[in-house]
Amino acid sequence: MKTVNLTIDGRPVSVPQGTSILEAARQAGIAIPTLCHENDLSIAGACRMCIVEVEGNKKNLPAACAQPAMEGMVVHTNSPKVREARKVILELMVANHPLDCLTCEANGKCKLQQYCYEYGVKESSFTGEKRRFTVDDGNPFIERDLEKCILCGKCVRVCHEVQGVGAIDYTGRGFDTKVTTFMDKGLAESPCVSCGQCIYMCPVGALTAKPSKGKGRDYEVEKVVTTCGYCGVGCQLALNVKDDRIVGVTNLPDSHNQGYLCVKGRFGYDFVDSPDRLISPLIKENGEFREASWEEALDLVAQKLGEVKAQYGPDAIAGLSSARVTNEENYLFQKFFRAVVGTNNVDHCARL
Ligand code: FES
Repeated sequence: MKTVNLTIDGRPVSVPQGTSILEAARQAGIAIPTLCHENDLSIAGACRMCIVEVEGNKKNLPAACAQPAMEGMVVHTNSPKVREARKVILELMVANHPLDCLTCEANGKCKLQQYCYEYGVKESSFTGEKRRFTVDDGNPFIERDLEKCILCGKCVRVCHEVQGVGAIDYTGRGFDTKVTTFMDKGLAESPCVSCGQCIYMCPVGALTAKPSKGKGRDYEVEKVVTTCGYCGVGCQLALNVKDDRIVGVTNLPDSHNQGYLCVKGRFGYDFVDSPDRLISPLIKENGEFREASWEEALDLVAQKLGEVKAQYGPDAIAGLSSARVTNEENYLFQKFFRAVVGTNNVDHCARL
């Protein structure tokens, strides 16, 4: 493949033809701020935070995420001109953004907040009408506050391009542009499958995981890496733990599932601390369950299996396992039935 050679912030860089300036800069260890760019998604060029200065280009400051690197280019990613333009871009965003960082769920992980800090933007010099929207909290897992939306479109693209659902899209023009559902209904009335990928993509606080709301900021929780137990895919995720309680889930973009999760993996953790959860074996006597020790319960199971086997033979016994347990547990289960009970009558609820 043909390579192109360019200079970024004084560093010579060689990249395959077609590589964006953003990617070329990253390969050279130079960070360029982005709000609407995401590696897995198509390029939108919507936020303009990634603008750079290219020597010889007097017309504009191109968006590094959308501009391919060209042979001989000399790029400046952090010149005074670039910084001043980014500051204006941030002020334009902040002009239509509630500055409620103190109570915002995204405080501490909001990229808009981070860049405003870096560029010294604490308020906007642009005044005028502000967009007003009602918070959509009809979905049990996802809260949408469009007044905080910066229209980067990452939620729209991940819903269309990765999830293949297309529950949301842009509507309106100019000042009236917003991200919404078909016929502008609540998310609960849309085809949304509540995977929550839009929350993960949102660089600000426009989309919030409702089960985590008010339970701890991102920097307050301990992230415990684990494997989702809901199916055999084994997605990796990080449980957000605060005060010995799971309060949320964080994606792990470098995992084999590339950070993508389904509704169960992302939101189905409340059973862990449920008061209804069984914490000891139950034995049924005279139609009623009573708690028992593991020793007593296992002795009873062994006795019953032994009685059936002695009277009717091992093939009178069958075992049905589950996709909710690990491969190792399923292996042990079938081994027990084949080697100890003596039957091949073993099946699995997820077998096709
Ligand atoms: Fe390039 Fe938004 S990151 S335009």
